[in-house]
Amino acid sequence: MKYNDFSWDFRKSDTKVLTHCFHAYPAMMIPQIARRLLLKYGAYAKTIFDPYCGSGTSLVEANVKGINAIGTDLNPLARLIAETKTTPIEIQTLDLYLKDFNNYAFNFQFGIKGSDSVVIPQFNNIDFWFNKRSQEKLAIIKNYIDHIGLRDIRNFFLTAFSETVRESSLTKKGEFKLVRIPNDKIEQFNPDSFGIMLSKLSRNKTGLLDFIRIKRNYSFSKIYGFNTVNDIPIDIIPDNSIDIIITSPPYGDSRTTVAYGQYSRLANQWMGIKDASLVDKNLMGGTKYTSDFIFHSTHLRVTLDQINNIDEKRSSEVESFFIDYNNSISNVSKTIKKNGYACYVVGNRTVKNINIPMDSITKEFFENNGFKHIETIVRNIPNKRMPLFTTSY
Ligand SMILES: C[S@@+](CC[C@H](N)C(=O)[O-])C[C@H]1O[C@@H](n2cnc3c(N)ncnc32)[C@H](O)[C@@H]1O
Repeated sequence: MKYNDFSWDFRKSDTKVLTHCFHAYPAMMIPQIARRLLLKYGAYAKTIFDPYCGSGTSLVEANVKGINAIGTDLNPLARLIAETKTTPIEIQTLDLYLKDFNNYAFNFQFGIKGSDSVVIPQFNNIDFWFNKRSQEKLAIIKNYIDHIGLRDIRNFFLTAFSETVRESSLTKKGEFKLVRIPNDKIEQFNPDSFGIMLSKLSRNKTGLLDFIRIKRNYSFSKIYGFNTVNDIPIDIIPDNSIDIIITSPPYGDSRTTVAYGQYSRLANQWMGIKDASLVDKNLMGGTKYTSDFIFHSTHLRVTLDQINNIDEKRSSEVESFFIDYNNSISNVSKTIKKNGYACYVVGNRTVKNINIPMDSITKEFFENNGFKHIETIVRNIPNKRMPLFTTSY
């Protein structure tokens, strides 16, 4: 069954409630969608799994309902955000650090303390993306964070720092990809990195308090960095152990669609992640396969043929993405219990003006793994139509 239901648009809903306010991330799921899917299909769920958890939207919503959550993502920044958003912190301890950081920032801001001992990290292109003043301020903040011994508090600060990095960089605002501001704007650009950091910390504390207030105490999230395309470690997720999947997978390779790694690169570099510039290459569709793969999906075969008639190279790139996606769905399928559910929030896209029906392809991939399709709900998003796919086993 496939039908339009615009009550899934949530056009006027506040999507930044609870810890959802913490950090922007490309192609974030709308929390209200995860919430409604949990109501509809997760009434008896004890464990959910999000195989491409990104910033952790579905994990937060699961924990609020008292459901344990497991997420994985190959992007280190995504894992940091997801972990921070789902970790309740002792507020008195957090307050001590916030007060201490306030004093620390004040001392540097007003020259009471000098920055001579602060080391600016050396990574590729740092001077291209950050002017010297911003490098110094960010290094001062990072120096503070590096001395925080408690992991949860350090993560809380790092999450605010990541946004501070982005807003202190010479990148155009409102773009997920890295685009530098025009040369004539660079000289005057002098962001108040301490002020940005303090305001993110304060906003995030409010979100955290709301999350802690309504979260069921016993529920927890665990976040990993394994690649569902290759294998799902059975010591982490045994076969037939998951009640429900709620996820939004990538809908194409990171290079030509949403560049998760590129969006995260500067923050990852400031946080000392090695090979931060290779994240996109490791994501789904990042590897180009040369051999022809036989897909058991009529929709996909027809689509690939159509693209191939126009542009062979693009068709083989799209094919590479779907080889990964197909393998990932086979692995994910094994984790779901009999009578469990897979809810995939997907977006259709076009390549060379050919529509790629991600919803129908996802449906066929799951059917190949013994699932029965329940419904595809089509919702409106501004300028796009977004199918939502739910299947059960
Ligand atoms: C649409 S985003 C998820 C957004 C998330 N629902 C949220 O609300 O923030 C897709 C995610 O898939 C991740 N990803 C891509 N390929 C992956 C793979 N092979 N294994 C795990 N995660 C992957 C990307 O890093 C990205 O964070």
